[in-house]
Amino acid sequence: MVCVAPVFWRPPIFWKPCFLESMMRQLRVHFLPGSLAGHDLSQSTCVVIDVLRATTTTVWALAAGARAVVPCLTIDEARQRAAAFAAGQALLGGERGGLPIAGFDLGNSPAEYTAARVGGKTVVLTTTNGTKALLQCRPAAQVVLGAFVNLAAVGSVLSDGTHVDVVCAGTNGQITREDALLAGAIADLAAARDDWRLDDSAAIARDAWLNVTANVAGGDLKATLIEAMRASHGGRNLIQIGLERDIELAAEVDRFSIVPRFNPASGQIVADGL
Ligand code: MLT
Repeated sequence: MVCVAPVFWRPPIFWKPCFLESMMRQLRVHFLPGSLAGHDLSQSTCVVIDVLRATTTTVWALAAGARAVVPCLTIDEARQRAAAFAAGQALLGGERGGLPIAGFDLGNSPAEYTAARVGGKTVVLTTTNGTKALLQCRPAAQVVLGAFVNLAAVGSVLSDGTHVDVVCAGTNGQITREDALLAGAIADLAAARDDWRLDDSAAIARDAWLNVTANVAGGDLKATLIEAMRASHGGRNLIQIGLERDIELAAEVDRFSIVPRFNPASGQIVADGL
């Protein structure tokens, strides 16, 4: 008699049992803030990104010693918030159409936010898309700001024990390449760990990041990012108004090791890691 051993289906080695899958945290990417609608953010950390330029400039301001940054939706609101501070304690910053706002102290160029200018002061900031995206994340368990200039630092939220929603500000309702690339870089940090599951948007962003960084010329990541950002929607806008230097400053990966954290109760962004 021939004995036939039962043949059992064996899972491939990358298969994870359901109970492990359910313990995995999810990283979702929203290419535009509008796709947050209907999502429960109460167990989530939102990482807001507006590489060109609101989140880059905020990191720059806090690293230069600004006490806090107060994001506002409108120019009027910013003026009112600034007026509530004692004389000399607050500065008004931001842009409309990329350009400084009449009567404001600062535009939205990172280089303007020097220690001499903002050290010890609170910056009341309003920008076209970035501050709006940030304020849409209020319901989240925590809200932090990401940029290439603090990429490794912001990656530390992957150890916080929450799910992560990466929220790209976009430009006037359009997806922007620079934000999608940074979202992909963050997704790539998560993919390197085995406790994260990426949603499809995160996987797409990661593919874009890997595709761009696969061609890093002579190991020069900054030059590669500058090239990619110059061709992006936000990059072209800045070049058109003579602010292309800001693209270079936004491409300085890991220049700073702080994580700006937004407190919805106080309405202020302050720096972790100083
Ligand atoms: C925004 O919030 O739309 C940007 O930061 C725009 C800019 O800096 O020009």
